Amino acid sequence: MASKSEMAHQAKEVLRLNDRGTYTVPTHGLYPFQWNWDSALSAIGFAHFDEARAWTEIDTLFAHQWEDGMVPHIIFHQPDEGYFPGPEVWQTGRDVPTSGITQPPVTGFAVRRIFDRAQDKTLATLRATALLPKIHAWHQWFFRARDPQETGLVAIIHPWESGRDNSVDWDRAFERVPIEGVAPFTRRDTSHANPAHRPTDAQYKRYIWLVEKFRSLGWDNTQLHDASPFRVVDPGFNAILIRSCSDLADLADRLGEPEIADQSRAMAAKGIAAMETLWSDAHGQYLCEDRTLGTLIDSPSIGGILATFAAIPADRAKALAQRIDILAKSCDFLVPSHDPTAPDFDGLRYWRGPAWLIVNYMIADGMKQAGQTAIVDKIMSDCVRLIEKSGFAEYYDPTTGAPCGGTQFTWTAAMVIEILQTHEAA
Ligand code: DGY
Repeated sequence: MASKSEMAHQAKEVLRLNDRGTYTVPTHGLYPFQWNWDSALSAIGFAHFDEARAWTEIDTLFAHQWEDGMVPHIIFHQPDEGYFPGPEVWQTGRDVPTSGITQPPVTGFAVRRIFDRAQDKTLATLRATALLPKIHAWHQWFFRARDPQETGLVAIIHPWESGRDNSVDWDRAFERVPIEGVAPFTRRDTSHANPAHRPTDAQYKRYIWLVEKFRSLGWDNTQLHDASPFRVVDPGFNAILIRSCSDLADLADRLGEPEIADQSRAMAAKGIAAMETLWSDAHGQYLCEDRTLGTLIDSPSIGGILATFAAIPADRAKALAQRIDILAKSCDFLVPSHDPTAPDFDGLRYWRGPAWLIVNYMIADGMKQAGQTAIVDKIMSDCVRLIEKSGFAEYYDPTTGAPCGGTQFTWTAAMVIEILQTHEAA
C-alpha cells in the first residue's frame, strides 16, 4: 500500500502527464481536448503545487466563452481523430472549435476555493478579478437561456450537459428523442474504454440526434431550450450552479464588486427556495424533474444527493446523510451514482452505479458545511481506499472497488491531492 505522500506524488504525476501547457486533457486517448468541469476541478488540484498553472487552466476555459455568456463543454484545441463527435459534427463556427452545449458550472466554487487558499494573493486578486464578470455572465446566461419561465432552477437540454451522461434519471425523458434519421457515425470511445463501462449505442444515437437538432437551429440559445424534446431539471446540477453563485457573491464582496455580489446572492436564494419542489419524502432525497411533463422522475440517483453541495436547509442535509448511510449498506465504497438496490443499477456502467471521486468530494464538502461530519469522514476514507485498491481511474464499481472507464484520470488525481491535503481522516 502506497504511503499518503507517495499517493500525492503519483497524483501530481498524473496531472503533469495530462498537462498540455495551458489546459489539461481529462485522460490521454478517450478525452483528448479540454472539458469544462474537468478543468475547474483539476485546477483545485494544481493549486496545491502550482498556483499560476491553476489560474491558467481556468483562464483558458474562459477564453472560449461565447458572446451570449455560455461556456462550452469541450474546447477542441487541436485536431484529434480519436474522439467522436469532433468539431465537424458540432459545427459551432468558432475560430477555435468548441461544442455547443455546456456543463456543470463548478468554476465559481473552484475560483473561490483557490483564491481563499492562495499563497500569492497578488496573483490571485488579479486573476480572480478578471474572471469574476465572466463567471457571472455565465451564471446569468443559465437563468436566461435555461430557465425562461423564471422558476429559479435551470434545465439541461442534453444529457452531456449534466456530466452524468447515461444516468437512469434521463431514461424516460430520453425516449422522446428520436433514434431514426441520425447521420451514420463510428463511436471512438469504445476503442479506448471497455464498452461495458460506457453508454449504449442507442443512447449515442440520441445524443447525436440532439446535437444535429441544435446545429440545425444555428446553436441559437434563445431557441434551444424550448426546441429540445429533452429538458430535465437536475438537483445536482442546480446545486452546483447555486453554490457557484453564492461563492461568487462572497468573492465579489471581497473584490469590490457589490453589484455582482447582490445579483449572485439573489440567484442563489431563489434557487435554494425552488429546490424544495424537487424533494421526495418517499425516497428521502431530491429527484430530477421532467420539465416537459412537469413531473418528478422516480429515479434514486446521486443527483438528488449532490444537492447538498448548495446550502439546503439543515433538516434536508441531515436526511441526505441518512440516505447515504442507507446506501452504504448495499455497497462497499461510497457514493454509488445510483441506488444499488434499484432495478436499473449497473455498477460498471458510467453513471448508472459507479462511484466518482469528484462527486464524492462535492457531497462531502456540502455535508461538512452542514455539520454532518461522520458521513464526511466515511466518504473521504472510501476515496482513499479506492485509490489504494484501483489507482487513478475515471470511476469505480462501488461494490468491488474495481477501476472503470479511463485510466490516469486528471480530476481523480486532482481530488486525491485536495483530499490528502485538506482532510485529516483521509
Ligand atoms: C463523452 O464524450 O463521453 C463525454 O462525456 C461527452 O462530453
